[in-house]
Amino acid sequence: MDKITVTSPLLPPLDELTPYLEDIWQRKWLTNSGHYHQQLEDELCKYLDVPYISLFSNGTLALITALQSLELTGEVITTPYTFVATAHAIKWNNLTPVFVDIDPATFNIDPAKIEVAITEKTSAILPVHVYGTPCNDAAIDAIAKKHGLKVIYDAAHAFGVKECGQSVLNYGDLSILSFHATKAYSTIEGGAVVCKTLEQKQRLDQLKNFGFESETQISMCGMNAKLNELQAAFGLVALNKIDESIAKRKSIANYYDKAFSTTAGIKTLDNHSSLELNYSYYPILIDQAEFGLTRDELLEKLQANNILARRYFYPLVTQFELYKGDASSTPNAKSISEQVLCIPIHNALAEEEQMKVIEVICG
Ligand SMILES: Cc1ncc(COP(=O)(O)O)c(C=O)c1O
Repeated sequence: MDKITVTSPLLPPLDELTPYLEDIWQRKWLTNSGHYHQQLEDELCKYLDVPYISLFSNGTLALITALQSLELTGEVITTPYTFVATAHAIKWNNLTPVFVDIDPATFNIDPAKIEVAITEKTSAILPVHVYGTPCNDAAIDAIAKKHGLKVIYDAAHAFGVKECGQSVLNYGDLSILSFHATKAYSTIEGGAVVCKTLEQKQRLDQLKNFGFESETQISMCGMNAKLNELQAAFGLVALNKIDESIAKRKSIANYYDKAFSTTAGIKTLDNHSSLELNYSYYPILIDQAEFGLTRDELLEKLQANNILARRYFYPLVTQFELYKGDASSTPNAKSISEQVLCIPIHNALAEEEQMKVIEVICG
């Protein structure tokens, strides 16, 4: 058996992609809001059930530009339990991240701890739907309204996620997605901002194209963050395969859930039945006292058996020198980052590979 990887890209069939590539070669239009770029924006709006989408060359630039478009100032409240790009996007806008602890039931920012972190400098809240589990938007929205704050969701993990039948991408003022190859849905590299009005979309479209408002007018310091035609075509073909891929991931998650429900010392996320998830990640928490191994010992055991797992998210963002926080001030995030391990889950994971993962962990 080959190495079992933690993830594997959703590769659309080459023969389905080839006609798109031939068409691009004929059109000779490779980037700058081309035919397939526009088609992908339309298709994604329909698939995700959102009003407007602006595609980006990656999720990090989508997030940096989303924050820039709202003209924020001062401090932005966020979570330390995330990929470092969340905090970097705040810093790239010359804003100060303020880290608030997470809810151990969801691994998402704990709304009950947000208000004490608000100061007169706070201009926004940047929560993350970690592993695609929706944040408590009702509570966050109420706090934001009370204090006049913007809410930008880092929904990098939340492609297609719904709560009570509604897309979570419509929460907040803006949401960003990542279409990196490791995500459930990918354009190899890529990302998007989901927005509510045409004005927001037009502003984002200008900001990702150097700030051009017209051929002769620039009033904003824009970026080059455009998605090219080849990647848009890849995304269109991948979109035809996404339902099948998520269904496969869901069946793996169900299989793991069953196996771990009787394993002492392993906790899994308790997903509510009102949620439609994308199963991008399968995090487990290891309680050393009950399980008998530390998280890192289990990681080594898996590696020795050719199974690659990831300590995602460890270390916390606040443990990086750049963010120099005191991790003890976010004790839930600290404790979870020390126990978490994301185990293999992807649409190409064979049944015998799933069985081997369980066998090595539980055996
Ligand atoms: C939570 C989170 N935010 C932002 C990003 C950045 O996305 P990208 O890799 O597309 O730049 C990622 C990527 O892994 C992520 O996990």
